[in-house]
Amino acid sequence: MQDRIVQEYFDKEAKRQNEGIELIASENYPSINVREAQASIFTAKYAEGYPGHRYYGGCENVDVIENLAIERAKKLFKAAYANVQPHSGSQANMAAYHALLKQGDKILSLVLNDGGHLTHGSPVSFSSHDYQFSFYPLDENGRLDLKVIKELLDKENPNLLLAGYSAYPFAIPFKELRAIVDEHNSHSDVHCYFMVDMAHIAGIVAAGLCENPVEYADIVTSTTHKTLRGPRGGLILSRDESLAKAINSSIFPYSQGGPLEHVIAAKAVCFGEDLAPEFKDYMAKVLENTKACNDELARRGAFVSGTENHLFLLNVLASFNINGKEAQETLESIGITCNKNMIHGDTLKPAYTSGVRIGFAASTSRGCNKAQAVEIADIIFDVLSKNISLSEAKDKVASIVKTWHDVMSLQYPLVG
Ligand SMILES: Cc1ncc(COP(=O)(O)O)c(C=O)c1O
Repeated sequence: MQDRIVQEYFDKEAKRQNEGIELIASENYPSINVREAQASIFTAKYAEGYPGHRYYGGCENVDVIENLAIERAKKLFKAAYANVQPHSGSQANMAAYHALLKQGDKILSLVLNDGGHLTHGSPVSFSSHDYQFSFYPLDENGRLDLKVIKELLDKENPNLLLAGYSAYPFAIPFKELRAIVDEHNSHSDVHCYFMVDMAHIAGIVAAGLCENPVEYADIVTSTTHKTLRGPRGGLILSRDESLAKAINSSIFPYSQGGPLEHVIAAKAVCFGEDLAPEFKDYMAKVLENTKACNDELARRGAFVSGTENHLFLLNVLASFNINGKEAQETLESIGITCNKNMIHGDTLKPAYTSGVRIGFAASTSRGCNKAQAVEIADIIFDVLSKNISLSEAKDKVASIVKTWHDVMSLQYPLVG
């Protein structure tokens, strides 16, 4: 890299990532092969349209690669249809809503502070400007309440029920939600679609370690950079091929121009890696590590959500009498990165929060094992309750990460 300023910050970032424990639940480390694809010459190519139907010449190679990404995505998720062009999870959601709804239609989604994403109806997102949202709350245990969702479907008569979240630590009963929507549709004049945004749990779905929403929802959106361990980007899937035209045109030309074919190449590599049997072992370890950390914090007396996936919530206000922002900053100062997060029934503002969200997708990619996940729980507990000094905690972090793989050279098995 001839640009010395940019190179300097590449190096600083590699050092930061290598020396720290990454517990942000939405992050992961793509392989060197995914990164190589993303840095490829495909970045130079305009390919508006879809394979075989482009607005530009010279698309014979990108067509093969985009079709490869589509076929691998369909195989991975047992889908009839895949669109690999969304630049991000947010754009996938924008296109999915547009494919199914008219402006002003009604969407029923989770209360945002209980774990929904901005694109699920936040006042600062396009979503609340284009559609009318109503919200279902979690129950007192922080779990989905199917009875309440059923009642709200009948009361609100939405055009779409949305499931899939950013900070929900439990399994989502897709099959039961489908049954509730079908039952509602059997007596409602307004047809309600069922959409799942599986951005967070897509890797768990791909590994077959939870229900596959593609079997039950009309449309499923995802990111590719979280538990799937791919490049930063989005994905739309459906079991219903008849939605293909509406979804395709909602991506291009409605919400995007030229597809990022270099990122699509990286998605193809990522899906190939996720199809390998080793990916299932990796994902099982992520779930094991997450649970080990959650359970150790609980054993030490902290208030945690419990977990059935790759993340859990730690109530730092109840546990240590500090807010999420303070906890995030303290942990960052010893080399542990996580994010402040609202918890169910939170009384503090989003800039502070009562909790932090902790996930093990990234650290497990580097080699974190169960014993280390327990050690990490102890470091978090001890440093936030001031049982140990910051420098002692920093040394403990350093001794864990020195046993892990370098983030710059990670390789994962691939099925071609
Ligand atoms: C559930 C969910 N959907 C969508 C997104 C948006 O993805 P992106 O940041 O790629 O727009 C996120 C991001 O965190 C998410 O958690």
